[in-house]
Amino acid sequence: MKILVTGGTGYIGSHTVVELQESGFEVVIIDNLSNSNAEIVNSIEAITATKPQLEIFDLVDREKTLNFFKRHNDIAGVIHFAALKAVGESVEKPLEYYRNNIESLINVLDGMRANGLENFVFSSSCTVYGQPDVLPVSESAPLKKAESPYGNTKQISEDVICDATNATGLRSIALRYFNPIGAHESALIGELPLGVPNNLVPFITQTAIGIREQLSVYGDNYNTPDGTAIRDYIHVIDLAKAHVVAVERMIKGKMKKEFEIFNLGTGKGYSVLEVIKSFEKVSGEKLNYIITGRREGDIEQVWADPSYSNAELGWKAVKGLDEMMQSAWKWEQAYREKDKDKR
Ligand code: UD1
Repeated sequence: MKILVTGGTGYIGSHTVVELQESGFEVVIIDNLSNSNAEIVNSIEAITATKPQLEIFDLVDREKTLNFFKRHNDIAGVIHFAALKAVGESVEKPLEYYRNNIESLINVLDGMRANGLENFVFSSSCTVYGQPDVLPVSESAPLKKAESPYGNTKQISEDVICDATNATGLRSIALRYFNPIGAHESALIGELPLGVPNNLVPFITQTAIGIREQLSVYGDNYNTPDGTAIRDYIHVIDLAKAHVVAVERMIKGKMKKEFEIFNLGTGKGYSVLEVIKSFEKVSGEKLNYIITGRREGDIEQVWADPSYSNAELGWKAVKGLDEMMQSAWKWEQAYREKDKDKR
């Protein structure tokens, strides 16, 4: 069975393509390579012995998108990752974010409708909860006003999908990710941020390898045990596997309603200092960091209640923090080694 993975050369997308292929699915990727590299399909082939098909174009291009669906009307499911995702950049360029993230979604849904395709999985985020009133946060928690245009595109996208699902023959699952980190154990694929990383773990590994001078820990006066902010970090492989489960659930007709929402987290929160300690333990490196002021827009603490996902999907995140940090470090080292060879 053929699955379309938009954004399939990106960080979460590429790991999901590997898991899909290893579960026997055929994969076709659409990506505009705005934040990734076409060579990723070779790395995926090195892991799975199968090279996924890659079509390079922008899903904001309506004609190209509709034309793609006309040529591929045998797709069993669509997993839609393709989107811009930098919070800070979205504040500076809101129109780009709304245009890119919302128009591409509408074009994909339109292409599916035109060809009678039914199964749609969407890449959402725990950012839709803001700072929840109750922890752990479950899928029924009220959504707070988005802190950024990026976060707002996730909320709007969920609304668009919900309305489209009600009005057409579509079946949809939105997966709300907590904080994905780590890399494939082969160290052939992993997170590859363009420029200076915004996210914690790539910043840690780039500092340890000497590309960044020092990590800033954003605030140690939060109302948490060690004063630093708490997140639910989840191994990208655990996250990728949940997408395979979601697609199979749709194909096998196991959904309880036409639009379902699931949290993808471990249920356990770690502070920034705990993440650093885990990194230092598994790498044997001493990390150069200082405590600085809080980052604007950051929330204090959030972690998932994954019990509904665990029960309904029969899926559970199994990899612990040390394993996540170990794999992120292995990937960073392998990537820089390869990069050196190229120069
Ligand atoms: C961020 C986004 C979130 C998005 C997710 C995608 C914000 C406010 N939120 O989540 O909407 O879905 O990325 O990956 O940007 N930290 C440091 N120093 C650093 C970097 C981070 O101390 O150099 C801290 C942060 O303050 C936070 C934790 O590390 O407490 C995790 O940060 P990050 O990896 O950026 O993820 P989020 O902010 O949770």
